[in-house]
Amino acid sequence: MTDGVPGLGAAGGAVVPTTTVAEAAALAWRHSARCVGRLHWKSLQVVDAEAAASCDDMFEALCGHLRLATNGGRIRPVMTVFRRWLAGEDEVRIWNHQLVRYAGYDLGGGQVLGDPANVELTAVARRLGWCPPSEPGRFDLLPLVLQYGSDLRWYPLPAECVLEVPLRHPRYPWVEKLALRWHAVPVISDMMLATGTAAHPCAPFNGWYMGTEIGARNLGDEARYHQLPVIAEGLGLDIRQTRNLWRDHALLVLNEAVLHSFEADGVRLVDHHQATAEFEQFCQLEKQRGREVSADWSWIVPPMAGSSTPAFHRHFPLLPELPNLLLQVPLWATARGRALLVAAP
Ligand code: ARG
Repeated sequence: MTDGVPGLGAAGGAVVPTTTVAEAAALAWRHSARCVGRLHWKSLQVVDAEAAASCDDMFEALCGHLRLATNGGRIRPVMTVFRRWLAGEDEVRIWNHQLVRYAGYDLGGGQVLGDPANVELTAVARRLGWCPPSEPGRFDLLPLVLQYGSDLRWYPLPAECVLEVPLRHPRYPWVEKLALRWHAVPVISDMMLATGTAAHPCAPFNGWYMGTEIGARNLGDEARYHQLPVIAEGLGLDIRQTRNLWRDHALLVLNEAVLHSFEADGVRLVDHHQATAEFEQFCQLEKQRGREVSADWSWIVPPMAGSSTPAFHRHFPLLPELPNLLLQVPLWATARGRALLVAAP
C-alpha cells in the first residue's frame, strides 16, 4: 500500500485508503503533523490539473490557483494537483518553496537585501535570465520557476494574482514608515502529495496565515527580516540589555501590526490564540471519531505566548500517516536539477 513512499509502512504509520485525489488531498491536510489549522480540512477545494502538459499549462493553472485562493481577501484553502510521477515519464515540479516569494539579494559579507530565505531561489531565477527591478528592494516578487520534464522556465507573477498587505499599527504611526509588507496567501509549492498509492510531486496548496508566521518568524527571525531591533528602537527601548525584554515588546507590536493591517484590509488570517483553540477542537473531534491526532509539538505551539495556549500543555504522538504531504529536496540541490540549470539557455 505504501508504494512510492518507501519506509513509511515500516515506520509504523497507517495508510487510509482513498478513492479520489480530492479525498486524498483533504486527508493529507488532516494528517499534516506540523499544521495547527487542520480543523478546516474538509473545506479544501481541490483543482484537478492532471491534464497540464507543459510549463505554460502549469503557469496558467497556478495563476488560476492564486485567483481562486485569494478571492479578494476572503481566502479559500485550495490544492491544485498535477499529474502523478511515474518512473521514466516527465516530472512536474515547482522550484519555488511558495508561489509568492520575495527576492533575497546576496550583497556579500553576510549581508542580504530582501528575504534571506530565498537567496538560492533568487540566484536560480537570475541564472535562468530573470532580471531584478532596476532598483532592487526588500519585497521584490520572484518569478515562478517551473519544470516540466527537462523543460525549465521562469514566469513573472502577474500583479493581479498577488495580494499584499502593507503593515501599519493602530497606535504607532511610525510603524507604517518602516514600509514593511507581506503577501496575503501562503501557497506551499514544493511538497509532494503522497496518497498511499501515487506520488504527486507538484501539488501546491494553501490555507490562510496565522499572524505569528509573519509577525514573529518571517519579519522577526534574525535569519529573515530581523525587524525586532528596528521596532524596539522605534519604541525607544535600549537594545543593549536583555532584562527590559525589548525583544518581547517588539514582537508584540509587530504582531499587533500584522493582525491590525490584515483585518483592516479585509484579508483573512487567524491569531495564534484562536488557531490553537481551533486545533484543540480538531483534536476533540478526531478523538470522538476514534482517531488519534499525530502532531509535531514544536510546530503546533506558536512562537509567542506559547504557555498561554492549550497546545503547550499537551503532548502528541508523531506517527507518519498516509495520505500526507512530504518534504522534497530543493531541485537545485539535486544532480538532476543542477544539470537542468547548466543546460538552460
Ligand atoms: N510559515 C510559512 C510562511 O510564513 C507558511 C506555511 C503555511 N502556513 C499556513 N498558514 N498555511 O510563509
